[in-house]
Amino acid sequence: LIRVGIFGVGYVGCTLLVGLARLKAGMIDHTGIPLGECVAGYRTKDIEPVLLVDVDAAKIGARVGDFVSMYPELDAESLNDLPMVEAGVELGSLEGMPIMHAGLDQKLTLEECAQRIKNMIKDRDLDVVVIITPTEEIRRIESIEKLEDAIRADRKDDITACQFYSYCALSVAHERGRGICVINGIPSEIANSTAFVKFAQRTNSVIIGDDISSGQSRLLSDLAEHFRQLNRRVLSVVGGNWGGNADFLRLEDSKRKQSKKTTKTGCLSDVLGYDPPSDIKPHAYIGPLGDKKAILIHWPYQAFNNTIDELWVVGRISDSPSAAGMLIDMIRLGKVALDRGLNGVVPEINSFYCKRFGKQKSKILAYRELMEWLAG
Ligand SMILES: NC(=O)c1ccc[n+]([C@@H]2O[C@H](COP(=O)([O-])OP(=O)(O)OC[C@H]3O[C@@H](n4cnc5c(N)ncnc54)[C@H](O)[C@@H]3O)[C@@H](O)[C@H]2O)c1
Repeated sequence: LIRVGIFGVGYVGCTLLVGLARLKAGMIDHTGIPLGECVAGYRTKDIEPVLLVDVDAAKIGARVGDFVSMYPELDAESLNDLPMVEAGVELGSLEGMPIMHAGLDQKLTLEECAQRIKNMIKDRDLDVVVIITPTEEIRRIESIEKLEDAIRADRKDDITACQFYSYCALSVAHERGRGICVINGIPSEIANSTAFVKFAQRTNSVIIGDDISSGQSRLLSDLAEHFRQLNRRVLSVVGGNWGGNADFLRLEDSKRKQSKKTTKTGCLSDVLGYDPPSDIKPHAYIGPLGDKKAILIHWPYQAFNNTIDELWVVGRISDSPSAAGMLIDMIRLGKVALDRGLNGVVPEINSFYCKRFGKQKSKILAYRELMEWLAG
């Protein structure tokens, strides 16, 4: 079994839970999970969600089946043995959202909260922690010691929820003498933070992140590879998307939008070797679109004999299932990495599944390296 804790039981979290339950019940097949059942010895049905954490007052103490119908495509059928949702720390992640929070940090100091979260992770004996909380402003930490100073001094403004959960998970790995895998599914810097990576190395743990590359951004990186190989020059790129889920609503806040923009750009210049003028970001919250976002890409380029051509891509893409399908692989590969005795980040996993990790390559090339790594 792979014992998993999910921090943030929202659209993506619930899609993952419902999808896993339906897979186990034989109601759906592996379509949409990149590696399907090709991870020898690590089956999708071995994934066992044993801890669910949220800060929404309406979810804490409830079962997923009680609230899953708030997401129109999901239902409670086949959701039987999931644990009750427990309270996490909010630390500003619901700021400006129409949700009442009942996070532990309302009443407890950061030190007390850390103790509670660490106990949950320890008691459930987690192998993998998945962080899929709302997009937050990107904050950087200098060192784990500085982060511990902020916790001791109860400076709640100096630490984000994602950093807090990652810190607690890695501390548990240290205390119990057995590594853990932290999957950061959101645009904060954990796999891209030297301090967190060093902490993971010290605790025989693995970090996968940051953010999940599940839609438009990975298509852009593969398009860039196509044009690079053909030596056609990309003149500019605009990429827009509009959606109606809570994540888009939160991106109306400029600091959070900047976090998404940061993880979406960078791949073009890394793959192409030059930096065409570009604007790639989520544009606005449009309620009626729901989870099925509208995307638009405009890609003019120069071909042989000074010809100028243009590519347009338009589509509607279901946001949460795209990310949840990839998480099923990330969880299994995190456990594979732990079982192989690896620590820190495994570039082959990060490059294929995540938006940002060091110099980027196209996902098509990253796939080849991932398969070679998996073959051992
Ligand atoms: N395709 C995708 O949908 C996709 C792709 C990549 C990354 N992501 C990332 O996934 C994250 C979640 O997206 P979503 O659509 O599920 O959002 P959502 O708002 O539906 O879900 C977030 C959940 O986290 C809970 N939460 C809020 N603050 C919390 C905290 N501090 N601790 C624990 N739980 C907390 C909320 O109550 C909610 O249940 C976002 O950061 C987004 O950037 C999504």
